[in-house]
Amino acid sequence: MSAPANLHFHDLQPTLADFRASVLAGLARTPKRLPPKLFYDARGSDLFDAITTLPEYYPTRTEIGLLRRHGAEMARLLGDDVLLIELGSGSDVKIRVLLAALRPRVYMPVDISHTHLLNAATAIAEAHPELAVHAVCADYAQPLILPTVQGQHRRAAFFPGSSIGNFEPAQAATLLRRIADMLAPGGRLIVGVDLKKDTALLQAAYNDRQGVTAAFNRNLLARINHELDADFDLAAFDHRAFYNPALGRIEMHLVASRAQRIRVNGRKYDFAAGESIHTENSYKYGIAEFQGLAAAAGYVAERVWQDDAALFSVHCLRTGSACL
Ligand code: TRP
Repeated sequence: MSAPANLHFHDLQPTLADFRASVLAGLARTPKRLPPKLFYDARGSDLFDAITTLPEYYPTRTEIGLLRRHGAEMARLLGDDVLLIELGSGSDVKIRVLLAALRPRVYMPVDISHTHLLNAATAIAEAHPELAVHAVCADYAQPLILPTVQGQHRRAAFFPGSSIGNFEPAQAATLLRRIADMLAPGGRLIVGVDLKKDTALLQAAYNDRQGVTAAFNRNLLARINHELDADFDLAAFDHRAFYNPALGRIEMHLVASRAQRIRVNGRKYDFAAGESIHTENSYKYGIAEFQGLAAAAGYVAERVWQDDAALFSVHCLRTGSACL
């Protein structure tokens, strides 16, 4: 099947050497830690899609509900003829909801997962033949030069899924500033942010009964085994996820159930029994707390939506320059 004529694919995907460097550096740290962007190989992206429909994982369906309910208002705020940049686009479910309300000229999804991005961008390009789709396979956590696109467009950004919560607050502010640099002054960012809430509800979302989140977490070890010729025994690492109230974040770990020595790319890494690899944080924010972070990154908080149960928030932020 040939690619739709309105789809352009820009491949800036991290290389195997980048992956190797991240893994070796992370395992050499004390405590050991690996950045969550490494989760998203093809299998990891499929497992993540499965997470988003789990009964315990409230963020995705709640955010989609907010997009359905308030999409028209979001579209009015973003304006006409926009070039819409979506960060961490993953599957195409959310953008479909937003595209029902917003008619951008150009849609530019940015995602680290090659196959997922290609599939989702192809589906969107086919469903919207009038829309120019410029898919960018890249790590958006790194400084990024977006491809130039013909025509003058007002740029807007969409950053769903509370992926902003997967960064330390200081890094989140840096990323928000970089997004502001991609937009013109007065440009708008729609960003989904998971809210602080009852600990049991939070913890259940990262400890589903079917074990999909555990499989997703362990898949990182399987990926390291395949791509870096390593010998992790997946059964010897337990999934652990808990809320850290002092830091306002879910932490995810892989915990060695026994002492062991692992070989990765010719190097050796020792684990004590009970030693963990910290694989992810997911920070949760109050509304005012997130607005404070956004203000520190140079944004004006323009509008915020949340569901009736106050599980999840979607913010519309405007970049600097008060003259709009
Ligand atoms: N942005 C999502 C979140 O923090 C990512 C996520 C959800 C996730 N569940 C996960 C990442 C489980 C790793 C493991 O909620």
